[in-house]
Amino acid sequence: MLIRSKDNGYTYPDSSEITPRAVYEQRRRFLLQGVAVGALSMSLDALAQSSGYTPAGKLTALPAVRSKVAGAVTMEKITAYKDATTYNNFYEFGTDKADPARNAGTLRTRPWKVEVTGLVAKPRTFDIEELLKLSPQEERVYRLRCVEGWSMVIPWIGYSLAELLKAVEPSPSAKYVEFVTLADKATMPFVGSRVLDWPYTEGLRLDEAMHPLTLLSFGMYGEVLPNQNGAPVRLVVPWKYGFKSAKSIVKIVLTDKEPGTAWNKSAKNEYGFYSNVNPEVDHPRWSQATERRIGEDGLFAKKRKTLIFNGYEAQVGQLYAGMDLKKFY
Ligand code: MTE
Repeated sequence: MLIRSKDNGYTYPDSSEITPRAVYEQRRRFLLQGVAVGALSMSLDALAQSSGYTPAGKLTALPAVRSKVAGAVTMEKITAYKDATTYNNFYEFGTDKADPARNAGTLRTRPWKVEVTGLVAKPRTFDIEELLKLSPQEERVYRLRCVEGWSMVIPWIGYSLAELLKAVEPSPSAKYVEFVTLADKATMPFVGSRVLDWPYTEGLRLDEAMHPLTLLSFGMYGEVLPNQNGAPVRLVVPWKYGFKSAKSIVKIVLTDKEPGTAWNKSAKNEYGFYSNVNPEVDHPRWSQATERRIGEDGLFAKKRKTLIFNGYEAQVGQLYAGMDLKKFY
């Protein structure tokens, strides 16, 4: 039976995918309770239970409140922690999906600083401990769709990037935001390989960067980010292909010109600046119409239909009103 959810029109192909009733009811109780207690931090276990997962218990806990941002919590089944942390793209540690989990142990995430500069009134370098406390940590359950055709559902922890950008006061001339990530040959064995230009960089239009769904993330599954997922701080932009979600960020630059991006620099005809999830715009070498949800492997696992803006059209569609998305892909 096909069921359509009201919020984003997502089609669930299989009833076993739907959140079990007990979890759903518990979540409802939690949400009601949340209204009563406001922004009080939940204990990690309570939050994790309400989301339907067990914290891995491997890394430092990162307490968070359930996000109230519209569209920030999908009720879909959460991807297993093991899958989310062993099937990764982080080319600084190798190009095989298993490489980041194997190799990223060398990444040093303390001390860590993030410089925020460019067209801003108050440029500032934040220590990671300052950044962690800049705004309350929220839990958001986002779908992430990779350009390669797979997707996951992950309980991220962080806050809207807008909170950080507001703190540095963007100038009226700022139109774009560039994200620069760590490129340290001493700790990242593949930096220097010819697969990409280093450092890995990404970019957003300022209004995309200010959208409340754009997440500056410090954790997942109730804990700090594992190295292979972009510790200590990464971006998550749920309506764009996963490669826009720059990992291990060290610098954020506000500019008036569209910045180059790692994938666009390496293959201009294959990766545009926008990179919005769009089933109607194929990658030159493969279709983007369907996706495989990680964890639903197997010969007979059905592929899912990919949704425009990854199912976040209600929240972000207006950012692209009037634009030809086939041209601005
Ligand atoms: N960030 C850096 N610094 N280096 C990378 O190679 N890969 C991107 C993105 N961020 C990448 C990166 C790609 S292609 C994807 S699909 C996502 O990270 C994967 O995030 P995940 O491993 O947490 O699923």
